[in-house]
Amino acid sequence: MSQTLREGAFAKINLTLDVLGKRPDGYHDLQSVMQTISIRDDVEVEVGTGQPWTLSCDREDVPQDGTNLAWKAAQVFCQAAKRDPEGLAIRIAKRIPTQAGLGGGSADAGAVLRALNRHYGYPFSVYALAEMGAEVGSDVPFCALGGTVLCQGRGERLRKLPDLPETLFVVCKPEFSVSTPALYRRLDETAIAQRPDHTAMEAAIVQGDIGAIAGQLCNVFEPVVTADHLELNYIKSLMNSYGALGFAMTGSGSAVYAIVPSFEYGAVLCTMLKDNYPQVFIAKSV
Ligand code: C5P
Repeated sequence: MSQTLREGAFAKINLTLDVLGKRPDGYHDLQSVMQTISIRDDVEVEVGTGQPWTLSCDREDVPQDGTNLAWKAAQVFCQAAKRDPEGLAIRIAKRIPTQAGLGGGSADAGAVLRALNRHYGYPFSVYALAEMGAEVGSDVPFCALGGTVLCQGRGERLRKLPDLPETLFVVCKPEFSVSTPALYRRLDETAIAQRPDHTAMEAAIVQGDIGAIAGQLCNVFEPVVTADHLELNYIKSLMNSYGALGFAMTGSGSAVYAIVPSFEYGAVLCTMLKDNYPQVFIAKSV
């Protein structure tokens, strides 16, 4: 008989993102503090269907086959655990905006890893799951672990930081999207003017000082994307005018987020952004 496992798949934002250099394998060494936020997909994994593997999603633009990171994660897990689930059906209810830098596909993959690990009685530690996730994508290790984490290497070297005090975010996803590999290539040709100060960010997180955290938000991709898409400046100017403590682009974009001082400030900012941007969310740290 089949069994259905349910797991939340939470979006991430990059509080900091630095690109340190290109590696011989073509990837880049990164340094990034990532944070789980409460925008989530719901992932169901049905094990033992007795049928060929399937993947379905309520959004048509999401791949519904073996190219989906959630499917790849299931393959990697079953191989590592030496288990045959005897048929698998993955179902994703998608709420995380795609092409946003919010790690939506990686979040689903992380959720599948956690669900299967639970189903088989926790054969792997969460850090072993994260290591497995690196075979699926650079953001999957973080998504398998979650919380507030300093990510290094390609994204697979993780160091857990203290949880943030409850922090409110407004996330705005503009219409345009950015190709991540192309953006890395652009950055290779660009002199980086401003990099995050990880010592200061870590100190702010250890102190639980939201104002100081907001003052240290920095993403080296942001000026490169803004050069082509000046509307990011418009979004950030609204965030600034309506009381945000700090704001930044997440990952390779195109979503921009603000840290807001209260739900009331967040609600007003959402209303102002909604005039031009249908994809606006209020979220909290998880
Ligand atoms: O690993 P993932 O599939 O998420 O990466 C997407 C693309 O982003 C890679 O093909 C690569 O071009 C770029 N990338 C990189 N260095 C990283 C992560 C991603 O160059 N650390």
